Amino acid sequence: MTVLRAVRLDEQDRLIIIDQTKLPGELVFVELRDKTGLIDAIARLKVRGAPAIGIAAAYGVFVLARSYSGLARLEFLEALRADIAQIRHVRPTAINLAWALARMEEMLRQHEHEQPRQILPWLRREAQAIFDEDAAICRAIAAHGAPLIRDGMGVLTHCNAGWLATSELGTALAPIYAAQEQGKKFRVYCDETRPLLQGARLTAYELMAAQVETILLCDNMAASLMAAAQVDIVFVGADRVAANGDVANKIGTLSLAINAAHFGIPFYVCAPSSTLDQSAPTGAQIQIEQRDALEITEMWYKERMAPAGVGVYNAAFDVTPRELITGLITEAGIKYF
Ligand code: MRU
Repeated sequence: MTVLRAVRLDEQDRLIIIDQTKLPGELVFVELRDKTGLIDAIARLKVRGAPAIGIAAAYGVFVLARSYSGLARLEFLEALRADIAQIRHVRPTAINLAWALARMEEMLRQHEHEQPRQILPWLRREAQAIFDEDAAICRAIAAHGAPLIRDGMGVLTHCNAGWLATSELGTALAPIYAAQEQGKKFRVYCDETRPLLQGARLTAYELMAAQVETILLCDNMAASLMAAAQVDIVFVGADRVAANGDVANKIGTLSLAINAAHFGIPFYVCAPSSTLDQSAPTGAQIQIEQRDALEITEMWYKERMAPAGVGVYNAAFDVTPRELITGLITEAGIKYF
């Protein structure tokens, strides 16, 4: 299976991402050189998916630090810390962004008495560690989740939690890729995931490239597919997991979980344990990102799809209560609720 890197440092230590807004039509690689470019890429979902956002931000801190390395030490620290504070709020629900930036800040703090050029290798090393750890986590999730997939199954997934959303392999798609490598025969239903179509544009792209049998459906079709006994198991990713096990993930995950519970279909959430937010006792404390109304009324079309002036609800994520989740698959194994 060919896996590209959604986020990487190239041989010259340039931060390169795949511009995911162009997929599946064009595979475009762009360099993120400065804070404006990094913030724009995260805000507009050129780079997206909780782990990939964290990795991009971590590499981004290194790239920004390098651009400030000619400054005197205190000015360097001030400029970099101000940028980190700004980047942290670009996407509020995915905890990986704040988590990765906190790791970079801690590395900066540990070396703050050194000169800027001496600090750079430490920041690079920490960002690379975040990437490498994520890759190992994805492989572990693949190993824990693959045995749940059996020949003949219909597997349903929502949004995109594949290699485009992580360092490699993905979280929710990792067991699927592992089961495919093991030669199992199954099909994957992928929700198109309105409004930004991560399922249609990205998951279908990934799965078809891996030659997985892929069937695309509109989000509102999942219940009827379940009623027709075509879905045997559901795998989704997570943007944040509250201390009690409630899960924030892409909008639509909650209705999928309710439907799965109604039909008695196992519903698994796949995520690194760093997605766990102990400071949020339940899902009610997780901040849900609200996005531009234009994503619903106009985006992806040349003409408006809705009357001008209509009110719009555009929550990017929802919270699925723990009671609806069969198990949480992390690098440590499967935790059953
Ligand atoms: O808005 P997005 O595309 O960043 O949302 C992505 C998701 O909701 C994913 O399921 C989640 O981040 C996990 S990605 C491994």
